[in-house]
Amino acid sequence: MFEEGQLYSPVTRQADGQVEVHLGENHPGFKDEHYRARRNEIAAVATDWDPREPVPHIDYTDEENRIWATVCTELAPKHEHYAHSEYLAAKQALGLPTDHVPQLEQVTASIKPLTGWTYITAPGLVELREFYSSLGDKVFHSTQYLRHPSEPLYTPEPDIIHEVIGHANQLASPRFSTLTAAAGRAAQRLQTEDALKFLADVFWFSLEFGVIHEDGLLKAYGAGILSSYGEMDEFRQMEIRPLDIGQMGTLNYDITSYQPILFAADSLDQLDDVVGVFFETCDDETPDRVRRELHLTS
Ligand code: TRP
Ligand code: FE
Repeated sequence: MFEEGQLYSPVTRQADGQVEVHLGENHPGFKDEHYRARRNEIAAVATDWDPREPVPHIDYTDEENRIWATVCTELAPKHEHYAHSEYLAAKQALGLPTDHVPQLEQVTASIKPLTGWTYITAPGLVELREFYSSLGDKVFHSTQYLRHPSEPLYTPEPDIIHEVIGHANQLASPRFSTLTAAAGRAAQRLQTEDALKFLADVFWFSLEFGVIHEDGLLKAYGAGILSSYGEMDEFRQMEIRPLDIGQMGTLNYDITSYQPILFAADSLDQLDDVVGVFFETCDDETPDRVRRELHLTS
């Protein structure tokens, strides 16, 4: 159901105005009528949202708040041990609630004074170009639904837990904020779909699934690892490679399971020197040039 580059369940709107989220048969909520109705309801709110209005407020149920609290409780000790100190400091500075799902408005109110980001609603799939280009203006498209309660430790589909616990905490760090905005400005500059996809893949292996050596230990700074307490337990056992833009931009990956290959930075400075400089300098010719250097045919 999920292909590379297609992270979210498709959302359609019928002629009668009915908004429907199409969960794949492997989705843990596929047979759960109650969950599907809730997903449709939240998608309808996001689809109907007029960007001139404040972001929609969702009245989260007790069950949804419980999932949020469970994930926060499970993640807390794992973050302490295995998240990079830069992320931990930013998480502390942001100070988001751990007992209930915050409204996106509240996320923006907390993060804007720190690093300038605005959280807006996304019904589900936001086109690659739109999603990444917005990052250049420090605008983050966030889903508002929660993962299915049967599998809180990992979801194949990004939800508000990932967007906020993973990304907002990360973006509250000036360093990760700068790096992410640089990726966004690259997206604004790139014209070809090929170059955009290459950029998205480097982003995947850094800001989503990046790891970093710190004081002799391997720590996570990627939002996709940091929002999954299942993956937080596993990432240190994966194949760890040194940063390599050519590989990061060309390696195939499965978006529905724990990432078996990860790229580790030696330090935040090296991350800026390699990934940051790539974001600052890549252009439409970069993918072809890199593939030629790697002797891959495009
Ligand atoms: N697996 C992540 C979690 O459980 C969420 C997620 C799904 C994700 N697909 C992703 C994160 C793709 C980053 C990229 O929190
Ligand atoms: Fe993400």
